[in-house]
Amino acid sequence: MSNSIKLAILGLGTVGTGVINLINDNLDELKRRSGRDIIITEVGTRRQRDDIDATIIQNSDLMATAASDNVDIVIEVIGGTTLAKDVIMHAIKHGKHVVTANKALLAEHGNEIFAFAEAHNVHVAYEAAVAGGIPIIKVMREALAANKIDWLAGIINGTGNFIMTEMRDKGRPFADVLQEAQELGYAEADPTFDVEGIDAAHKLALLASIAFGIPLQFDKVYCEGITGITLQDVNYAEELGYRIKHLGFAVRRDGQGNADAAGIELRVHPTLIPQEALLANVNGVKNAVLVNSHPLGQTLYCGDGAGAGATASAVMADVMDLVRVLGSKDRDDQNNTGHHVPHLAFIPEQLSDTPILRAEQMTTGYYLRVHAYDSPGVLADITRILSDAGINIDAILQKPAHKVGQVPVIILTLPVVESQMNLAIEKIEKLDTITDKVVRIRLDELE
Ligand code: HSE
Repeated sequence: MSNSIKLAILGLGTVGTGVINLINDNLDELKRRSGRDIIITEVGTRRQRDDIDATIIQNSDLMATAASDNVDIVIEVIGGTTLAKDVIMHAIKHGKHVVTANKALLAEHGNEIFAFAEAHNVHVAYEAAVAGGIPIIKVMREALAANKIDWLAGIINGTGNFIMTEMRDKGRPFADVLQEAQELGYAEADPTFDVEGIDAAHKLALLASIAFGIPLQFDKVYCEGITGITLQDVNYAEELGYRIKHLGFAVRRDGQGNADAAGIELRVHPTLIPQEALLANVNGVKNAVLVNSHPLGQTLYCGDGAGAGATASAVMADVMDLVRVLGSKDRDDQNNTGHHVPHLAFIPEQLSDTPILRAEQMTTGYYLRVHAYDSPGVLADITRILSDAGINIDAILQKPAHKVGQVPVIILTLPVVESQMNLAIEKIEKLDTITDKVVRIRLDELE
């Protein structure tokens, strides 16, 4: 076999170990597909490991490994946004291609990292950063390159989906399921990133940039997690034909003649979606991304969104891409990286400054749970406030009083701008007959 490709793996946690196992298991397949020998020459690890092949150098100086002459491609799977950023920038400076699974780093510093990589004529590949093993980056950058993307919606955190599925199907307590997700290697080092929606927001920022050709803007993603979801709301939603899923949405709005309302919605939140929607039936650690594009229409991409095997699969898909790039570089002139797919799908000079809409400008349907005294006229008061605000009611469910004299009323609405809904809820909460804060969860028919 022709000259070998030398890999360095920085970080030997769940993903780093998964990459080593994948290479050991599938080396023949990798060689037959690339025509090259693929060798791990160095690993960067603070703690020496005695279960690593003796031919692999274990280096506690990660910066040295990132710049080593003994390495062609640097795989960064340390996580975090400090040391990981330093080693990636150092590797780029030394002309190394980089593969990373680090969505937090790219969402927060990707604009700078990608520009630095382009200036150094190397590539930073990041398939593993979004939706685990699903090849969504490759699909959106390459397979959908001729389409205009209007919106996408995705289950993009495996831990959160696993927790919500286990709670709904088996009635298991939140804390137990989260602990299992940690044991299975699904959760982030800090699991609040999973359950508060931050991890999904990182991934959504990346997907939105690729979809719409905008710079990464993680700080503008509206973000709600799953910790406020109660079994009561899960059950009411099911009764009305909906399922609650934790979704990320990136939506292009034309403003319908109002230039101030035109822009992009970036939002992560629990959402009622129809039970029969494919996304509603994506369970456990599975992720799925639904992309609505023109002229193709809706396409859905689904698979394991977290865990060692799924993430290693995406890391090594990037490595294989780069191996082929390095192969073409050997064949062509020295300045040709062979890889012409821009980091964010669009040519950097062509990225657009389309504004990201603020939360109160966003448009969604709503599920409202209102608690009221069981007295005549309550329902009429609530519906009058909604109708005065121009909010269309789609369904109402009034349950029998569960506490003495109190009734939960569930209302589903058609899409409405959030600022209008805020005003209506404020008025409803001021009614003398209302006993608690109104619970609201967004709703989307995914059409
Ligand atoms: N903690 C992440 C998740 C890992 O659960 O989806 C994959 O990005």
